Amino acid sequence: MDSEARIIALRNQIRAADHAYYVQADPVMGDAAYDRLLAELMQLEREHPEFADPNSPTSRVGGMPLDAFASHAHERPMLSLENTYEQPQLEEWFDRIGRSGIDSPSQENGPDSLFESAPQSDVLVALEPKVDGVAVSLRWERGRLALALTRGDGVRGDDIVQQVRTIRNLPLVIESAPDVLEVRGEIFLDDAAFSRLNGSREAAGLPLFANARNAAAGTLKSLDPTVAAERQLRFVAHGLGVVSDDLGSSWSQSRRRLEDFGIPVNGPSVLARTAAQAMTEIHTFDSLRSTLGYPTDGVVLRVDDFLVQAHLGSTSRAPRWAIAWKFAAEQAPTKLIEVEWQIGKGGTLTPRATMEPVQLAGTTVRHASLHNIEEIERKDIRLGDTVLVEKAGEIIPQVVEPVLGCRTGRETVIDAPKVCPCCHQDLIRVGPKIYCTNASCSAQIRERLAWFAGRDQMDISGLGDKLVAQLVDAGLVETFADLWRLDVQSLLGLEKVGEKSAHALIKALDQARTQGLARVLSGLGIPQVGTVAARTLSEHFEDHKALLSASASDFEGLPDFGEITAQLLWRWLHEQGGEAVLMDLFAMGVDLRSVRVDPSGHQPLADCVVVVTGTLPSLGRKEAEAHLRELGASVTGSVSSKTTYLLAGEKAGSKLATAEKLGVQVVDEAWLLKHLAP
Ligand code: IVH
Repeated sequence: MDSEARIIALRNQIRAADHAYYVQADPVMGDAAYDRLLAELMQLEREHPEFADPNSPTSRVGGMPLDAFASHAHERPMLSLENTYEQPQLEEWFDRIGRSGIDSPSQENGPDSLFESAPQSDVLVALEPKVDGVAVSLRWERGRLALALTRGDGVRGDDIVQQVRTIRNLPLVIESAPDVLEVRGEIFLDDAAFSRLNGSREAAGLPLFANARNAAAGTLKSLDPTVAAERQLRFVAHGLGVVSDDLGSSWSQSRRRLEDFGIPVNGPSVLARTAAQAMTEIHTFDSLRSTLGYPTDGVVLRVDDFLVQAHLGSTSRAPRWAIAWKFAAEQAPTKLIEVEWQIGKGGTLTPRATMEPVQLAGTTVRHASLHNIEEIERKDIRLGDTVLVEKAGEIIPQVVEPVLGCRTGRETVIDAPKVCPCCHQDLIRVGPKIYCTNASCSAQIRERLAWFAGRDQMDISGLGDKLVAQLVDAGLVETFADLWRLDVQSLLGLEKVGEKSAHALIKALDQARTQGLARVLSGLGIPQVGTVAARTLSEHFEDHKALLSASASDFEGLPDFGEITAQLLWRWLHEQGGEAVLMDLFAMGVDLRSVRVDPSGHQPLADCVVVVTGTLPSLGRKEAEAHLRELGASVTGSVSSKTTYLLAGEKAGSKLATAEKLGVQVVDEAWLLKHLAP
């Protein structure tokens, strides 16, 4: 088969697999098989740029960062919705649409039979959950995704199509679509993706996103589409823009056509004819809310029939034919028992409330955020108070306010701590923030090291929070580089650490030496430098030496680096001991070179993830790994569904078994040597 035919075949196969997985929820292949097809396609597309296609499934992984978003006019303005929280208002709306003068045509398979005994008005209203995300207008031209505009000011929006192409549940190519198909909908993070994201931000000491909507919006604002790819956004359609063919005469009919195209529509949709029926449905939605797995903040009600919609028309702001019922945030009263000041890896102390357990939005809540000392003072929250706790839009619970009517007089004021609960040094308060400035505070050291060892940073397997705490408490480790000063003997002195795990840890540390500059930098807890900024740095600086000789304005010129980040980084390197940290790591043999992808070089293994195991016939393991990196591969320590190849030699043990189980392709040294001799 020639390369073009293979590329087309691979694209089709991957599209079919995406559809089966994301739309039909019925996967046709395993992760490893899928990843292999994708890797093969990436390689072929790199070798044959003449067959490039922006809608190839390879665009799902993100691609090159943009300089700026291009702004485009909406062919039809993107309107907003009127909100309502109360039944009388909803009744008024039903009255208004009922007086519109046109009846909903009775539908053959329609839901008229749904409410046989209820009194019926003439206008049929469709209800569906209001998804709490970011509105977009997507445009397919001749079946290919061409444009994705944010709402912007409703008249013009930004083109975020590169970001949108990473959304896995969205078809990039639609066979048999109308020539022009504009679909409006919501981009959002589901509950799992949101808690994953905030979980890793919390561990990183980065500010948390207050809710899934902010997180989705923040993700789409990044010019680097790989950020979107990593965070696993989803899309759901809730309306149409310009469409060149007729998709039916009502929203319920068009929804079905969209589904046929493989475009996800908003899960449960029901119909109602009266405000009373609608209220019943709204209560059902509200009670199911926490089971949906994605964030909703209300119910959207709309006149189903397009003719009736057109007759009702719109104001400049919102259509008259639709309205949003907003849910009230769920709140519950409980007793505030204790405030604990948690120390982050940067030394910030944040107050966390422990409360009497209370049921909220389907979960038992014991802890909630108190934000900061200023909030506590402003709201006059006291220990022993009955407080209202809120979980709005599935976010981390928050203490809203004290219930003053429940005060007994025995409550006590919460004072800002004066000394660090861990190292007892004096704390510093700057506005709402309280810091422990003692860099050798063991709570900070523990937090920093645990973050450094984490999966998305140095990925040191076996080195979890507990072991880190033991190591720090035993005085064995204080700096990052100290980790590589550990030996089996000293580990054996720790409680519950046996011969086997001690050896495993030393081995994992040894492997982690070669993670490369990006992972090291993202692990060091440099203010404002997370995974993305670290990767940007490693793409622009060859190694730590290049980084150390850069000026703050060099940093400022990097994509997504502002003046503040640039300054903070420079100061961290040159005024806060960063240079010494890097030199110490370097002295311990940690590879501080960037694993750079040089598109002009010979990099047939770019985008491949390779694990090396066993004894190779001629090459040492370190040597083989270095060669693999030269060829563009990322080399990791453990086999997972993300692994492209396992390079196995003699006595390959459990990794080989895992690779076989996951369907990861196993290769030998000869394969590597063949790549090295082009
Ligand atoms: S219908 C003219 N249906 O909420 C707009 N909107 O607060 C008709 N939204 O602008 C939109 N879920 O971005 C509709 N099921 C749903 C929705 C939904 C979320 C968004 C949409 C809208 C905003 C208004």
